[in-house]
Amino acid sequence: MTSPPEPTSEHLNPSKLGTKEYWDQAYETESHNFSADPTNEGQIWFDESDAESRILRYLSSQDLPASTSFLDVGTGNGHLLFELVECGEYDDDGGAMVGIDYSPKAVELAEKIAKERGVEKRVRFVVADCVKDELSAAEWVPEGGFGVVLDKGTFDAISLSGEVLEDGSGRRLYEGYTQGVVGVMARGGLLVVTSCNWTEEELKKKLLVNQDLEYYGKISYPSFSFGGKTGQAISSICFRRK
Ligand SMILES: C[S@@+](CC[C@H](N)C(=O)[O-])C[C@H]1O[C@@H](n2cnc3c(N)ncnc32)[C@H](O)[C@@H]1O
Repeated sequence: MTSPPEPTSEHLNPSKLGTKEYWDQAYETESHNFSADPTNEGQIWFDESDAESRILRYLSSQDLPASTSFLDVGTGNGHLLFELVECGEYDDDGGAMVGIDYSPKAVELAEKIAKERGVEKRVRFVVADCVKDELSAAEWVPEGGFGVVLDKGTFDAISLSGEVLEDGSGRRLYEGYTQGVVGVMARGGLLVVTSCNWTEEELKKKLLVNQDLEYYGKISYPSFSFGGKTGQAISSICFRRK
């Protein structure tokens, strides 16, 4: 048996966005707001960078079968899944569309929105922790795994947790992220991770520690220049399970 890799010193400083209490509180408020006003579905992360449209366009350019199954990890209000369902490119009776989140309040909100949009039979939301739970054993994982796994802001949130893995390695929680997620991907399946905390190169470095993943492509965002340096506000990298 090989021993787990040594912890790196390139971690993000822990913050409240890395805690479940923070997200429970946030989605409790959003759920309350939605009940009062069903047009208010809550925060769509990275909306200012038009991330969801860009992700959808990127997926569309991959000519995926209409029966592709999707998992949205850390789905929040489920908005990205609703966009996928409603874009018309994937069969209504096609592959599973599942959103998981460790906050029961997020799942409650996503389910309420699904009903309001009339897509509650097409999408499924489940409370699950993508690092701590044994995802591959879950009954909602389709046989052979998901064709596409999406993560918008969740690896970021997990990277902000100061907790360490329970395997005694001393590694931070985010360093155990790929193990669970890759375990529910189909061979040849895609994982698209969108982040504002890590650069493209950092994302590659962090996720390619899992040798079952390979770099597949990236989504372009407008870049900005500041203080003589050019950068972009967010990154979306696509990995492929070998
Ligand atoms: C920045 S929000 C993004 C939400 C949604 N993906 C979006 O784009 O609007 C991060 C999400 O990750 C969820 N999350 C954080 N850690 C998680 C974990 N270990 N397992 C599952 N969900 C997690 C939070 O509850 C929250 O919904």
